[in-house]
Amino acid sequence: MKRAQQHAIWGRRGTFILAATGSAVGLGNIWKFPYIVGENGGGAFVLMYLLCICLIGLPVMAAEVLLGRRGRANPIMAVGEVVRESRSSKAWGLIGWAGVVAGFIILSYYSVIAGWTLEYVTTAARGGFAGIDGHTASATFNALLGDVSKLVRWQTAFLCMTALIIMFGVTRGLETAVRILMPLLFVLLVLLLLYSAYAGDFLAGLRFLFSFRISDLSLEGLSLALGHAFFTLSLGMGAIMAYGSYMPHNTSILKTVITVGCLDTLVALMAGMVIFPIVFATPGVEPGGGPGLLFETLPIVFGGMPVGTIVGAVFFLLITLAAWSSNISLLEPIVAYLTENFRFHRLSASLLIIFLAWLLGLTTVYSLNHWQGMNMVAGMTPFDFSQFLTEQVLLPLGALAMAVYVGWFMKKAPLRREMKLDATHWFGRWYTILRYVSPVLILVVFLLGLFDKFAG
Ligand code: PFF
Repeated sequence: MKRAQQHAIWGRRGTFILAATGSAVGLGNIWKFPYIVGENGGGAFVLMYLLCICLIGLPVMAAEVLLGRRGRANPIMAVGEVVRESRSSKAWGLIGWAGVVAGFIILSYYSVIAGWTLEYVTTAARGGFAGIDGHTASATFNALLGDVSKLVRWQTAFLCMTALIIMFGVTRGLETAVRILMPLLFVLLVLLLLYSAYAGDFLAGLRFLFSFRISDLSLEGLSLALGHAFFTLSLGMGAIMAYGSYMPHNTSILKTVITVGCLDTLVALMAGMVIFPIVFATPGVEPGGGPGLLFETLPIVFGGMPVGTIVGAVFFLLITLAAWSSNISLLEPIVAYLTENFRFHRLSASLLIIFLAWLLGLTTVYSLNHWQGMNMVAGMTPFDFSQFLTEQVLLPLGALAMAVYVGWFMKKAPLRREMKLDATHWFGRWYTILRYVSPVLILVVFLLGLFDKFAG
């Protein structure tokens, strides 16, 4: 493996944990998780989601990190390298491609949503939330969705922020940013949680999040829980594989993956525990309120706090920054591919992809207003379709292929070598789940989801 010597490797063991946590914790935890829980039956969905994380997400994440570290290149070339090493069919190389395509589509809509958080930073800082109630918060959010030029301005600003960090170097910039940001985000979440427990209906919120009624389960909810498990852990898109390729050999894969998975899940559950008590204590706000949930509840919290202007602005800024470190990880695999395969300069590769993602992102912007009633496929707008295609089709298929490939086709010797720091019984458990449990569950949930969408 000649390329292995040219490909950068992170100097510090902790860098992978920081970078992977930066990638995993983002809009998925704070914006998306609460609203899909709200739309899909509360505790029943949370339970399905947790099972998906444990039985599918974490085992597949370990497989993805392992592929990246073994291949020591960008996802497309890393998979190619490993496939050559184990003399399997070249068709497995599609794993890398599917990931890069999914990552690009996600990059396009992720930047639009992150733009909303930027707008909320400025509104909070101007004192725009002072004394706001549920109805005004909804009206403010809907006005933003209807304002194309504002949406495009913030989407562009966010993509420029992403380009900036690429210019200053991913590793140093990212590591410093995540080292400061993540603890700060965590502290603020704890403070908000305390406030929400004091000012909101905390018991109703907890009951909604953690009480399980089988009748609340739907096929759609199950399929969304699976897709979200991949999305929130940044799986199947090459991001974790790209970071895995920079991971030093003296780092245990399983321990690292479990740490990142726990931090990610903790942030999502905390976001839910901040938002739902407020939802239940505020007239005019419903748990099933959809993508606006975060933006229609938190302003009420900040509006009623003594120093809400500052806390609100800082909180939305932190969400933006968490989204920013996720966005960087979406860009990294494609940029690495263009530079390693076509000798692009890092900067020109980033600018090219950012421009293309901006163009595709315009379809998301228009889906929020002028194209709201458009029926692209099965009643979906282009934005809905982008989310469906990535989270419910490309990611599950990519993850399935990864689990089957690593579990059944990769030679055991290189596998064992990559996992040498993990105790034999842990390796054994992981390997069994990856071979027998994860692929079957992914396939069943994936097919049920498709059935529900197109035939149900
Ligand atoms: N995991 C991120 C989130 O939860 O917001 C989203 C994401 C980042 C998905 C990077 C995929 C990815 F490659």
